[in-house]
Amino acid sequence: MRTAKAIILAAIGLAAMPTAQCALPAGYGGSASCAPCHRAIYSSYTKTAMAASSGATDNGRQLESWNKSAFADPAARFRYQVKRDAAGLFFEFADTGGSLRGRKALPYFIGSGSAARSYIIADNGYLFEAPVAFYANGSRWALAPRYEVYDYPYLTRPILPGCLACHASFLSPIAATQNRYASPPFAEAGVACERCHGPGAQHAARRGPIVNPAKLDPVRRDSVCSQCHLSGEVRLRVKGADWDTYQPGEILLDSVKVFVRANPNTAMTVSGHVEKLEQSACKRASGDKLWCGSCHDAHSVPAPSKRMAAFRARCLACHMLAACKATKTERSKRGDDCTSCHMPKSNVRDAQHVVYTDHSISRRPLPRAPAASSGALVPFGRVESSARDVALAYAIAGDKERALPLLEALPIAGSDTEVLLYLAELYRNDNRSQSAIPLYRRAMTLDPSQVTASTGLGGIMMEQSNFGEAIPLWEDALSKNSGLLMVRTNLAMAYWKSGDKQAAERHLLKAIEISPGFAPAADLLKTLRGR
Ligand code: HEC
Ligand code: HEC
Ligand code: HEC
Ligand code: HEC
Ligand code: HEC
Ligand code: HEC
Ligand code: HEC
Repeated sequence: MRTAKAIILAAIGLAAMPTAQCALPAGYGGSASCAPCHRAIYSSYTKTAMAASSGATDNGRQLESWNKSAFADPAARFRYQVKRDAAGLFFEFADTGGSLRGRKALPYFIGSGSAARSYIIADNGYLFEAPVAFYANGSRWALAPRYEVYDYPYLTRPILPGCLACHASFLSPIAATQNRYASPPFAEAGVACERCHGPGAQHAARRGPIVNPAKLDPVRRDSVCSQCHLSGEVRLRVKGADWDTYQPGEILLDSVKVFVRANPNTAMTVSGHVEKLEQSACKRASGDKLWCGSCHDAHSVPAPSKRMAAFRARCLACHMLAACKATKTERSKRGDDCTSCHMPKSNVRDAQHVVYTDHSISRRPLPRAPAASSGALVPFGRVESSARDVALAYAIAGDKERALPLLEALPIAGSDTEVLLYLAELYRNDNRSQSAIPLYRRAMTLDPSQVTASTGLGGIMMEQSNFGEAIPLWEDALSKNSGLLMVRTNLAMAYWKSGDKQAAERHLLKAIEISPGFAPAADLLKTLRGR
């Protein structure tokens, strides 16, 4: 497979490409391979936010500013500072007393930074999201979204393939792990040409066919953008599908199911543009005619000076100027910028300091809706959803009352890892460990990469003082995700109780190395050494 690619690349004179070609999946050439024949598209596309949506922090495309690079968490327990030195980007943190401090390198970023940028911490290939983020709004550093809830620097939120998949291309996750990757974790930074066009090596080499989204039927066409711009309230994979199952040209909802609340929430969310547009009167009245491509050119973003006129022309392709009910004077105050009144910018509810454009194209700006809704979950799009998908949607949304009976009613959960695991977790939280055990065991044999079963089963064994069984289960969980700090601390306890104090100490030191602020490990180490 590698040889075949090398031949193709040599044939078009591009043998010495800077990207990690060998990590490309079969059939793909990488964006650079398109450049010789599609020069104009290539050069305009590489300047877009999508193309710059992830990368190594040492790639020279820096936009971060340094004048506001120190900040404290809202409760002022910890101070953070982001810095760069010869070795690269990193951040330091310290508690207000100065007794607890730490430093972590930030080798990769996620997000172009046109709104915000997140960063990645690495522990021997295991990737975690950093608690620090850069926000374009105010040009400052602050806690990453959803990190205000922790009272210490939280350093172990795993970066799953499903997270990277929307921001980077051709990932190299290591099998049977949750968040471990080869180095580099992706062969191409950002959204590659072939994420919208499908594998292009054959096309590039000998003019084979290639997907043009605009020529697909509307469902397949819209799927191309929805693969990343539709998240809904809950997004789950259908049974048997993986994070990379969908390919351009296919129907997204065949491999992914997206659930939204029955009473649509009017607040904007990150990556919710498809849902919002679906709510618009423009979309409801024009149906398949209107899509993302009606207003956006995927390969370029209009220059700021041309932006207003560009979008106005898009509106006027369907609307007469006279249709607008605002007076001429009202409109001219806005320079006749249709979007400033009908597509205003608003804060999103799932990330602070971030502003996005409201795609519901309303007559008047909508009032801000409450943050969350508890309405029924309904499938997005004109699709049927199975009882299994509905049950899982509630489980994923954390609605235990609705999820449990639905999961239990499923015929034979026998070969469905996700169902087994959610059901097992619900039983365990409900103090029904005996019912959880066989489900965990079955899930473990079905899917070697999951950690929920080894973690949960290990917990049950520990409760029964069965250290001999708990220890290998937890070692297994940690080999899949090194950042399971509570598991690591409990494992240390199990080693200690079974007489292996050295192993206990090793794990506690590792937990503290990964996350200096994680108190349970530090406390146990003190107790252990105090004896
Ligand atoms: C050796 C030159 C060459 C390379 C390399 C090349 N293309 Fe093309 N491509 C063409 C030509 C010529 C056409 C127009 C004629 C045609 O439709 O076959 C085309 C057409 C296309 C179309 C439109 C197809 C349609 O049906 O409307 C897309 C999309 C496309 N290329 C994408 C890519 C992508 C993505 C890459 C890189 C993976 C790439 N091309 C690499 C020569 C090339
Ligand atoms: C975000 C999705 C997306 C990405 C990424 C993308 N394209 Fe496209 N491309 C499209 C869409 C949508 C169309 C159809 C545009 C239309 O006709 O409305 C298209 C059309 C094309 C065409 C044929 C029509 C034309 O405009 O000539 C070529 C060639 C092409 N793309 C090449 C590329 C290359 C090369 C890259 C990477 C440098 C790339 N595309 C990246 C979505 C994308
Ligand atoms: C593989 C995932 C992926 C696909 C496929 C994709 N997008 Fe995106 N898109 C993103 C991400 C991620 C961003 C945010 C980039 C950033 O700022 O980091 C984005 C940003 C954008 C932006 C904002 C650009 C800017 O400069 O502000 C537009 C417009 C957009 N996408 C349109 C589309 C359209 C239209 C399609 C389908 C033809 C599409 N995208 C397909 C992931 C994707
Ligand atoms: C389903 C696809 C998807 C997933 C999964 C996803 N994102 Fe995004 N993300 C997007 C899109 C699309 C945007 C651009 C805003 C939009 O279009 O709503 C975005 C925007 C962002 C931005 C702001 C970029 C900018 O400047 O506009 C950051 C930072 C970000 N995402 C980080 C992450 C991190 C970290 C994860 C994983 C923990 C993640 N995202 C998972 C699709 C996704
Ligand atoms: C593909 C065609 C199309 C495009 C492009 C389009 N619209 Fe519409 N829009 C419609 C149709 C059809 C309706 C429903 C009939 C009507 O009110 O004219 C509609 C309705 C509306 C409404 C009334 C909303 C309501 O709740 O009743 C507004 C406001 C509007 N459009 C503004 C815009 C603006 C602003 C743009 C550009 C950013 C735009 N439209 C782009 C087709 C389109
Ligand atoms: C009726 C026109 C219209 C349609 C259709 C449309 N957009 Fe937009 N979009 C806009 C405008 C206007 C902006 C604001 C651009 C700016 O401020 O420069 C925007 C901005 C964006 C952005 C940048 C982030 C933000 O929210 O400001 C993304 C991402 C995006 N659109 C994705 C999509 C996707 C995905 C679709 C299809 C589901 C889509 N858009 C359909 C008009 C449209
Ligand atoms: C100063 C703000 C403003 C600007 C700028 C503006 N509109 Fe409007 N538009 C309005 C208001 C207010 C209404 C009436 C809302 C209502 O009926 O409650 C309206 C109504 C509309 C409607 C719905 C008409 C109907 O009742 O069927 C359309 C379509 C529309 N505008 C299109 C546009 C287009 C296209 C542009 C850009 C050329 C534009 N608007 C610019 C404020 C504005």
